[in-house]
Amino acid sequence: MATLQNKIALVTGASKGIGRATAAALAEAGAHVLVHYGRSVQEAESLVAEIQAKGGRANAISADLGTPAGALLLAERVRTVVGSQLDVLVLNAGISKSARMADYTVEDFDSLFATNVRGPFFLVQQLLPILSEGSSIVAISSAVAHTVVGKPGLENPSILAYASTKGALETLVKNWAAILGPSGIRVNAVAPGVIDTDMSNFTKTEAGREVALGMQALKRLGRPEDVADVVAFMASDRSRWITGATIPVDGGSKL
Ligand SMILES: NC(=O)c1ccc[n+]([C@@H]2O[C@H](COP(=O)([O-])OP(=O)(O)OC[C@H]3O[C@@H](n4cnc5c(N)ncnc54)[C@H](OP(=O)(O)O)[C@@H]3O)[C@@H](O)[C@H]2O)c1
Repeated sequence: MATLQNKIALVTGASKGIGRATAAALAEAGAHVLVHYGRSVQEAESLVAEIQAKGGRANAISADLGTPAGALLLAERVRTVVGSQLDVLVLNAGISKSARMADYTVEDFDSLFATNVRGPFFLVQQLLPILSEGSSIVAISSAVAHTVVGKPGLENPSILAYASTKGALETLVKNWAAILGPSGIRVNAVAPGVIDTDMSNFTKTEAGREVALGMQALKRLGRPEDVADVVAFMASDRSRWITGATIPVDGGSKL
């Protein structure tokens, strides 16, 4: 269904994984998609070519969102391509880290917060002038913003710093939704459980796969497309009465 006909969408971190599947789903729904990437230029360009081969519209745009100027640079590049219209913003680019509590460094902490929280914060600030009534912002959070995963223990690796970036992102989503609601702009989060991508490399072992499936009611690994379809719904007018919400997309994790 062409629910995003004549809409323009930016998906950050669209070269791989969940972002890539999301950009493809938005294009399938009729949107002109800006495929943002950091380092994976070939992957981003191949997605643009795939979308164009199906008759869709897409451009690849790069910016390192981990740097202080990254979000500002990306917003500038977006405006150069689209002018003054942006209807959908998907805040997906992110990094994670797993380590024992004692092994985290200040650099680890700062780079997690820079990419996962500061980047989205300033991207919304900078793109606000071209988002208008009816626009939708969707942030990719994580189930770990709400629940502790793995085996807690001082000797065990944990993703506590990453998890707290997603908690911060969801707090921003609520604040953005309240601030931007009167302008007719909706802001929501989608919180995936374990999804089979490069980021979740622990699922590539049988033991890791078992841990993931052990948490879930539905007994298969989540796929990027499982998240992408929900983001496409949240981006479209079909979710017009939802704002400030977090939608779990996790196969029924830790019920
Ligand atoms: N996989 C999961 O199990 C899972 C679960 C819950 C939530 N999530 C969230 O879903 C989102 C996507 O994750 P994924 O699993 O699809 O990860 P992924 O396959 O590792 O892809 C991450 C994407 O983010 C981009 N990115 C990372 N750092 C960047 C930077 N500094 N500047 C610009 N782009 C950057 C990457 O672009 P380049 O490669 O081009 O640099 C890539 O396109 C993340 O926010 C993640 O936290 C994932």
